Amino acid sequence: MDQFTIQKPWDMHVHLRDGEMLKTVAPITARYFARALVMPNLTPPIRTNDDVSRYQQEILAASGPGSGFKPLMTFKILPDTDPHSIAELAQMKDVVAGKAYPKGLTHNAEDGIEDYFALRDVFAAMEKHNLVLCLHGEMPGTHIRGRDRERAFLRTLCFLARTFPNLRIVLEHITTVEAVETVLRLPDTVAATVTAHHLLLTHDDVGGDRMCPNHYCKPVAKDPADRDALIQAAISGCPKFFFGSDSAPHPREGKTRLYDCCAGIFTAPVALPLLVEIFERHHALDRLESFVYDFAVQFYHPRGPATGFPPKLRFVKDQWTVPEEIGGIVPFYAGQELSWRVEEVK
Ligand code: NCD
Ligand code: ZN
Repeated sequence: MDQFTIQKPWDMHVHLRDGEMLKTVAPITARYFARALVMPNLTPPIRTNDDVSRYQQEILAASGPGSGFKPLMTFKILPDTDPHSIAELAQMKDVVAGKAYPKGLTHNAEDGIEDYFALRDVFAAMEKHNLVLCLHGEMPGTHIRGRDRERAFLRTLCFLARTFPNLRIVLEHITTVEAVETVLRLPDTVAATVTAHHLLLTHDDVGGDRMCPNHYCKPVAKDPADRDALIQAAISGCPKFFFGSDSAPHPREGKTRLYDCCAGIFTAPVALPLLVEIFERHHALDRLESFVYDFAVQFYHPRGPATGFPPKLRFVKDQWTVPEEIGGIVPFYAGQELSWRVEEVK
């Protein structure tokens, strides 16, 4: 097959940043995705209705009014989030989820959570108001090694799923066999996002056989068996697993610091062509559309009437070289050849 068309995908986990970087990256996401769930980890964080409205306007302006791109908005859950603020947030049409980060474990998470149980009233309010809880699934604490943090967090995930049976929960950017197995075992209120880079990288590509800061993201890529389990989940046709790029741009300076290198990989320009290559390699191209579109729509079912015909995207087999740098950001696969190009269907 040399070309095919699918519904324009949804990216259910993206960092669009603000200021100049937003102007660089928003048009790229808008070109490849009809909708995207925009993460709230700015400084200061997006946490109130006013923050959300302002940020949404900035995103719409940066993505180009003619693009048709619609951001789905999130708010950041902090240790001092007031459960009473949830009802008001839930009233905003495009606010669909709250995001909880573990303290200190990723970019801009110094203000994150240490004690998930202490937030039970916030989670109960989200359950009541039908908001999705998005979890960065790594367990904080000094007693756990970095690579074990996701496995350790799964107990918290199970606890939350049991305690709030009607709360929809997404375990974001999963990286381990155990995360796949746990999500499969839990009720259908629990789903997971899978990135493109975690289907390609292992720990050796980050800092093992070769050292590559541009492959460094949180949670860090794990072992080949973990990567293979993620591939199987992504191509399985199981609606609990859908695409979230976790495209997380940082300026080149932030990625090349000797200490405190920024976690995050800028994948928006290449994620879809890479997914096509992966699904093609595994004879699963017929499942791609469900992974990047249907399952996200089914799980999130955001409110609001559909307007016009849903946009489509065409993939054409045609080699191109990924730019070395885009607006001061080095993208994933910089300088490398990809075999599929993406075209908008007019
Ligand atoms: C993200 C970022 O840069 O904002 N970084 C990352 O490594 N994925 C934050 C996050 O999602 O953990
Ligand atoms: Zn992220």
